[in-house]
Amino acid sequence: MREVEVNLGQRSYPVLVGAGAVGALPRLVPPGARRAAVVTQADIGVGVETGLEQAVFHMADGEGAKTLATVEELCRAFARFGLSRADVVVGVGGGVVTDAAGFAAAVYHRGVAVVHVATSLLGQVDAAIGGKTGVNLAEGKNLVGAFWQPRAVVCDTDLLATLPPRERRSGLGEMAKYAFLGVPGLAGLDIEEAVARCVACKAAYVSQDERETAAMPGGGEVARSGGRALLNYGHTLAHAIETAGAYDLRHGEAVAVGLVFAARLARRLGRVDDDRVAEHEAVVAAYDLPSRLPRGVAHGQLVEVMGRDKKATGSGLTFVLDGPRGLEVVAGVEAREVTATLEEISG
Ligand code: GLY
Repeated sequence: MREVEVNLGQRSYPVLVGAGAVGALPRLVPPGARRAAVVTQADIGVGVETGLEQAVFHMADGEGAKTLATVEELCRAFARFGLSRADVVVGVGGGVVTDAAGFAAAVYHRGVAVVHVATSLLGQVDAAIGGKTGVNLAEGKNLVGAFWQPRAVVCDTDLLATLPPRERRSGLGEMAKYAFLGVPGLAGLDIEEAVARCVACKAAYVSQDERETAAMPGGGEVARSGGRALLNYGHTLAHAIETAGAYDLRHGEAVAVGLVFAARLARRLGRVDDDRVAEHEAVVAAYDLPSRLPRGVAHGQLVEVMGRDKKATGSGLTFVLDGPRGLEVVAGVEAREVTATLEEISG
């Protein structure tokens, strides 16, 4: 078992990675907590033992369940259970569960402790770590939320053995992203080592720029590096695909398309050469992930949605793009360059 620290001063916390890590849960809940509200989905099928008086609350399956209505239902259920400010919420599931349970924990009693047990590869390498919580609106993904750091995260790699193949592929898309954040060669490692390296990379970005303010105007000392926003490499298009409609791509699959798109856009803008684009294509292909837009996607709609992306802070479109100094947040990209790049990757 490996332990990776997310270093945030008084809010630092451990991420436990390894086979059987979920057994450590009783020592990860806050001292003094008497009750644990375990939030999960019926399909997850992972029972946890917190060592406290605990009750299980199911939310519905799928991204569609990440709503304010779900958060209200959870908070009302916590109140009926008698969950106090000294108690703990435990999110057991993939990103949908940890995002919604984390947000419910952030707002219930103006904030109660939360521990995440990430059961999907995507959750273990990304969603459960770093304290981003939230829900979707019809207008876009994760438009309402809060930064609320967990007390601990458990990444039990035994839980990955039973993941449906599409779910695993989705996690691989997020893993592919780390090749461009300084963690190459993950595909050849055993799963515990690969997850731990992704977690350590993410922890370093989160520790440096917890609230993703570095890339904003006046972003402070890490502004030039882009900070946490760089973790969104490949995500601007991915979120637009997901927001624009159900194109039968899982999140990580959409991220894979987004990585190739970002590389091609960077080449169009003269920031990288053909070899760098080929590297992106090769990493995505090594994980057997898609690199082209599905047929029938309206480019105009994607451009419109990307214009509303949370990274956008001024005029034009904003992307994380590769370049001579590595990844950077690039603002003011013209819509016609984006549309031309979308044409390049149309299936
Ligand atoms: N998934 C990107 C982040 O947590 O910042």
